Amino acid sequence: MPATTNEQIIEALRPVEDPELRRSIVDLGMVRRAALSDDGVVDVLIALTVAGCPLRNEITSRVTAAVAPLPGVKRVALDFTVMTDQEREAVRMMVHGNPGATAGQGQAHGHAEGRTVPFAEPGSKTRPLLISSGKGGVGKSSVTVNIAVALAEQGYSVGIVDADIYGFSVPRMLGAEVDPVVIDGMLVPPESHGVRCISIGYFVPEGQAVIWRGPMLHKALEQFLTDVYWDEPDFLLVDMPPGTGDIALSLSQYLPRAEVYVVTTPQPAAQKVAALSAAMAAKVNLTVKGVIENMSWFTGDDGKHYEIFGSGGGQELADQLGVPLLGQLPLVSELREGGDDGIPITVADPDSESAKLFHEIARRIAVDLKSKKVFNPALKIS
Ligand SMILES: Nc1ncnc2c1ncn2[C@@H]1O[C@H](COP(=O)(O)OP(=O)(O)OP(=O)(O)O)[C@@H](O)[C@H]1O
Ligand SMILES: [Mg+2]
Repeated sequence: MPATTNEQIIEALRPVEDPELRRSIVDLGMVRRAALSDDGVVDVLIALTVAGCPLRNEITSRVTAAVAPLPGVKRVALDFTVMTDQEREAVRMMVHGNPGATAGQGQAHGHAEGRTVPFAEPGSKTRPLLISSGKGGVGKSSVTVNIAVALAEQGYSVGIVDADIYGFSVPRMLGAEVDPVVIDGMLVPPESHGVRCISIGYFVPEGQAVIWRGPMLHKALEQFLTDVYWDEPDFLLVDMPPGTGDIALSLSQYLPRAEVYVVTTPQPAAQKVAALSAAMAAKVNLTVKGVIENMSWFTGDDGKHYEIFGSGGGQELADQLGVPLLGQLPLVSELREGGDDGIPITVADPDSESAKLFHEIARRIAVDLKSKKVFNPALKIS
């Protein structure tokens, strides 16, 4: 009689989560065999959701750590197999629901009730944050990525939708340049620095331009919100394309409860353009919750602040919109370098002024600007 029974091994494996789906590997049906031999070898067979799963090593170490301490275990022998199409379908149904189901059927997650966007549901706990600006190059993507990372470091679960279909940049800036895993049509977003992201960048060959009209953009965004396994994050940040247009309109339909944060540079001209993006938000019934000023100053070797792009624009815009100015971010070359290397400054240099400012902005969004309104799903009228 071995010191540990097969049932006890399974129980020890139950708390082990699949790193991508964040569900128990036992519940997901990934554990196919678990037995302890008389000579102290635990034999475990794990069925991966997809062949060549990039997180195989992570699964190995989690499983080993869970069973190695059990009584009588001297060695863990792990073997892998791959799920069949039917098994993958079952997994997708379990975690994400059935896209073909009619209202009232299927699971509570994802587009269980037809092609609805989960974030539009009254009970959704996710706060969608649209990071926008009227014009290009003011630092929307950099701000999105760094705030996302700061929120993740503060313990929240966070996703980013790169809604800049023509000029996507989030995968590179976040260092998440691996393809999403597809499980029975469900996209598992790549994760980096604790943040998951989806971008058109994963779907177009390198160097090719996306030339799509409105309906295609609309469709792509819909897929980003419904076919991606987001698993109800606390925050879903949306990196908006420059300007005001089709994408903002689509997003306002898909994310009616989204909060808009406007990024601007400090010069009055930029602030006027940023005001247009706020006007657009108002037109589509979205609420602007705050202003973030970027490239506010440059600190010279002499320690002096040089206001290269002028000053006061962020505060002026915030006053005009009646919302808080959440922060002023200096111009620092490390911020650009972090974006180029896929290691955001908040991660690369957590003690830097920039990282601290991003953390403070994240905290203000998460805590100070949290809605007091409680969305109680029990009160849903259908
Ligand atoms: N505070 C900053 N200090 C230094 N460089 C910055 C700062 N903010 C942004 N940058 C750099 O400026 C460039 C533009 O920033 P970013 O891509 O984030 O802007 P964007 O508003 O998203 O642009 P687009 O409109 O093209 O999407 C990038 O190379 C970025 O690294
Ligand atoms: Mg951008």
